[in-house]
Amino acid sequence: MKQFISINDVLTPAHSTIGLAINSLTAKALAYKQNPFIDRALGKDKRIGLLFLNPSLRTRLSTQVAAQNLGMEAIVFNVDKEGWALEFEEGAIMSGNTVEHIKDAAPIMGSYFDILAIRTFPGLQNKQDDYSEMYINQFIKYAGVPVVSLESATLHPLQSLTDIMTMQEHLLANPIAKQKCKVVLTWAPHVKALPQCVANSFAQWVNAWGEADFVITHPKNYELDEQFTKGATITHNQDEALKDADFVYVKNWSTYNDYGKVYENNPKWMLTQEKLAVTNNAKVMHCLPVRRNVELSDEILDSTSSIVTTQAGNRVWAAQAVLSEILTLKL
Ligand code: CP
Repeated sequence: MKQFISINDVLTPAHSTIGLAINSLTAKALAYKQNPFIDRALGKDKRIGLLFLNPSLRTRLSTQVAAQNLGMEAIVFNVDKEGWALEFEEGAIMSGNTVEHIKDAAPIMGSYFDILAIRTFPGLQNKQDDYSEMYINQFIKYAGVPVVSLESATLHPLQSLTDIMTMQEHLLANPIAKQKCKVVLTWAPHVKALPQCVANSFAQWVNAWGEADFVITHPKNYELDEQFTKGATITHNQDEALKDADFVYVKNWSTYNDYGKVYENNPKWMLTQEKLAVTNNAKVMHCLPVRRNVELSDEILDSTSSIVTTQAGNRVWAAQAVLSEILTLKL
């Protein structure tokens, strides 16, 4: 693996389909969960830089733990708070607030580290700007070393790999009597306009995985970008969507078509235990952080229906599998 930015980086010549490539990566992640230090020699004398332009709890800590499990040194740099304000536009006349161009900063950081990982967010003002992924693409262009996305303007691949691994782990321990599990991604209310990254990425990965009947449910006018959702069943009827679900993934996102707006905040979209009654004893997932009793009720989060803590814990093993793949190719 040369980089980890989206599902497209998973496929290798060793795999005939992207679904098999995903399964191979999740198998590796699950193996690391059983034996965290088996590849401690792999990252010896290697260093990863974790750059954050936005806040993070899980991604920041789990990626550091993953790197250290592989024997790597991990250094975190909160670029937004501790670094010079970076400029990403080519040809910019830097007479405003930005102090250092990415084409100067990225190769320097690339000379300090064997792998660079970066978290950026969308501005949610201009769809074209966000969906061009300028920040992470400019970073890749100038870094000169493999780059891992810690979440970008439109995708969160480490989260999605974790999500599939978590579903597989649950299915291995609790087999179901059908060929494909049913996975439902349901929109949830929120007080702020949030990015589409997690929902886009989850849709992209579940569709590519091919081992689930995949349904997305959201209010009218909350359609996601079709490039990610194509292949899923999409409905505005949440109750209908939830029928016989094995996994329910709860997530808010702001509007995509009329970009970055909050049209709807109706609490009727919040998942409750009562709504779960029509599912196949579904397990509830969320990437976290979660607004309790806005996105998801206490009664679900504090019940055995929720697997969000296991899911967040699995971020370590997914990150470890990705770093391991990159280190293996680099050695
Ligand atoms: N799910 C997730 O990416 O969490 P953090 O924003 O805390 O890293």
